[in-house]
Amino acid sequence: MNIIWHSDSKQYHLYNDKISYIMGITPTGDLGGIYFGKRIHDKKDMSYVVNRFGLPNVAVDPDTESYSMELNRQEYPAFGTTDFGTQAYEIELANGSRVSDFVYASHKIKKGKAALNGLPATYADKNEAMTLEVCFEDEAAGMSLILSYTIFDKYPVITRHAVFKNTGRSVTKLTRALSACIDLPDQDYEWMQFSGAWARERIPEVRRISAGSVSIESKRGASSANQNPFVIIKRPNTDDFSGEAMGMSFVYSGNFIAQAECDTFGRLRLLMGINPDRFTWPLKSGETFETPEVVIAWTDEGLNRLSQTYHELYNNNLVRGKWKNTPRPVLINNWEATFMDFDEERILEIARKGKEAGVELFVLDDGWFGSRNDDYSGLGDWIENPDKLPQGIAGLARKVNALGMKFGLWIEPEMVNPDSNLFRRHPEWVLATPGRKSSLGRHQLVLDFSRDEVVDHIYGMLKKVLKNAPVSYIKWDMNRSLTEVFSQELSADEQGMVYHKYVMGVYRMYEMFRKDFPDILFESCSSGGNRFDAGMLYYAPQAWCSDNTDAIDRIRIQYGTSFGYPISSIGAHVSAVPNQQTGRSVSITTRANVAYFGTFGYELDLNHISDEEFEKVKEQIGFMKENRELLQFGTFYRLRSPFEKDQAAWMVVSKDKKRAIFGLYCMRSNVNQLPGFIKLAGLDDDLIYKLRGEKYYGDELMNLGLALKELNTESLATGQDFISYVEVIETQE
Ligand code: DGJ
Repeated sequence: MNIIWHSDSKQYHLYNDKISYIMGITPTGDLGGIYFGKRIHDKKDMSYVVNRFGLPNVAVDPDTESYSMELNRQEYPAFGTTDFGTQAYEIELANGSRVSDFVYASHKIKKGKAALNGLPATYADKNEAMTLEVCFEDEAAGMSLILSYTIFDKYPVITRHAVFKNTGRSVTKLTRALSACIDLPDQDYEWMQFSGAWARERIPEVRRISAGSVSIESKRGASSANQNPFVIIKRPNTDDFSGEAMGMSFVYSGNFIAQAECDTFGRLRLLMGINPDRFTWPLKSGETFETPEVVIAWTDEGLNRLSQTYHELYNNNLVRGKWKNTPRPVLINNWEATFMDFDEERILEIARKGKEAGVELFVLDDGWFGSRNDDYSGLGDWIENPDKLPQGIAGLARKVNALGMKFGLWIEPEMVNPDSNLFRRHPEWVLATPGRKSSLGRHQLVLDFSRDEVVDHIYGMLKKVLKNAPVSYIKWDMNRSLTEVFSQELSADEQGMVYHKYVMGVYRMYEMFRKDFPDILFESCSSGGNRFDAGMLYYAPQAWCSDNTDAIDRIRIQYGTSFGYPISSIGAHVSAVPNQQTGRSVSITTRANVAYFGTFGYELDLNHISDEEFEKVKEQIGFMKENRELLQFGTFYRLRSPFEKDQAAWMVVSKDKKRAIFGLYCMRSNVNQLPGFIKLAGLDDDLIYKLRGEKYYGDELMNLGLALKELNTESLATGQDFISYVEVIETQE
């Protein structure tokens, strides 16, 4: 890994073993793109890529009389001079002008990677990464800009963000401040996004990129289940196993935009950042604004490799603290077993049976506080309900500990029910537009987390509950989108700051928790997967993937999630049948076979299953405990897509390639078919593996493939649909 500055040509080359990212200062003093892709030799001067000829109807810079931004690849363009594409940023000056012209001033090349201020970001020490900061000045605007690029040693990854500073005297307004822009030289790509809604999150959608632009966004205040802040562009022939692709992942949990724009000269512009819609950020003299980070990964070895890059980077350089690379406890959560209808004895009944099965952590979900007996009231009143829990959370947690299990707790700190003491006392603490009615979501309003006093007050209440209680895990939920966004504390000019300040408030509270309770394992949640993003992983290493716990639907949801997020981050549980969301009944074996490829737990009352099923649950927990390190942190491969065939398959392989676990799922039984073969991946060609009492070479399993079992016969024999199997593949000693 290195960053080279060629002072004569004014070009930078960031490279490691796998990639090169080359750019240079343009004749107008901007930063222009030269190359991004497979590692190439370093050269002192690649100015031949710069186009310095006019074309009809093209505006050129008056000093050079030949250079146009429009005809050259830009790294962070503004609209208003000679670039007519979508701009990376926009600044409104006091006189109403929106033309910017940042000119190169200096740069710094540093070892390692600095943290972002109050924002989540990947981190790296001096040996793991190098950072380039290029500084620009716009004298007329009284503004400076720093574009920051980090290259990692081990990963084909560049991270980017920008910092604006008002160096002048009058107030300026940022009306757009994206985190990254890359111009690529051709448009022969497909765009892949991960879309959905509640209970059907992160479903991959692929479309051909062609004239015009394609974009996805969130305007909900959270990153959203509707569009995930992670996109891939790939060559049309790229699949999971071969071909070129590039990912852009936003380390942020609020409104965002991701866009690919084709220009009419055959080039492609990619942009990602905070959604400019409803965003304005006034900067007084001396103030700065730092954008969140975008993580750009590249591969020419297919989408599995791209995903593995994100998995490893996020496990090693984004997740922090005690739970980094630590296998997660098998848990049982009472939500689908009791909803809010419980008392201490009912909870202990579930916990005891869980303990008997080998569960390590009991999680008490919604309904333990205030008047929270249904979802109409109580949110915001973070005081235990003595009718349900006479000795409070501390008393219950100790009893659960005495059973030999850890205790976990659900919270939803960002919300308030109108029917709550908190709202009656502080109606001004919610996001609400004066003179307008406030829309409700799940009968609740959103607290104004852009205000420090609100965040501090809620944190104070929760800290009191946690202070004397042995709580090892927290599920932080967020069950509605933001509407009528307006903060009573901010002036008219500052209302465009609210969405971002809100997210910063959430991050600040997470940071307070982390400081006061460093050992707590956090699981983020937002009606399931409404805020599953890289920003959250910085604070909470796992996320409840979806409220849809139906195993067959979960195959699709977890499959889609695996493109951008590690298996260790995917909250996955076995729940009761018929499934609460779909009404479908799937065997306890298949339910577990899906949940193994996640953090694993149970979301049901084990007292209410048959003895035979209970024996299976005990075996499942034993299997998970033995294999969770491999399942959660091994190298994950998608083998067969649930969107293309009636069967889905995936596997994980240990780093030394000596052990692997394979999962095959039958989404639909097909009559009168040969079972066929499936090619495994990631094994060692020459090693001999033991599987189903037979021996196979690695190259045999990966090229001839593993002969599949006749699932339809099994389906007929057992009378069960949705058959699946999970198999351990081990080297023969
Ligand atoms: C939504 C979550 O996704 C569920 O798992 C559960 O915690 C409920 N909220 C509780 O209100």
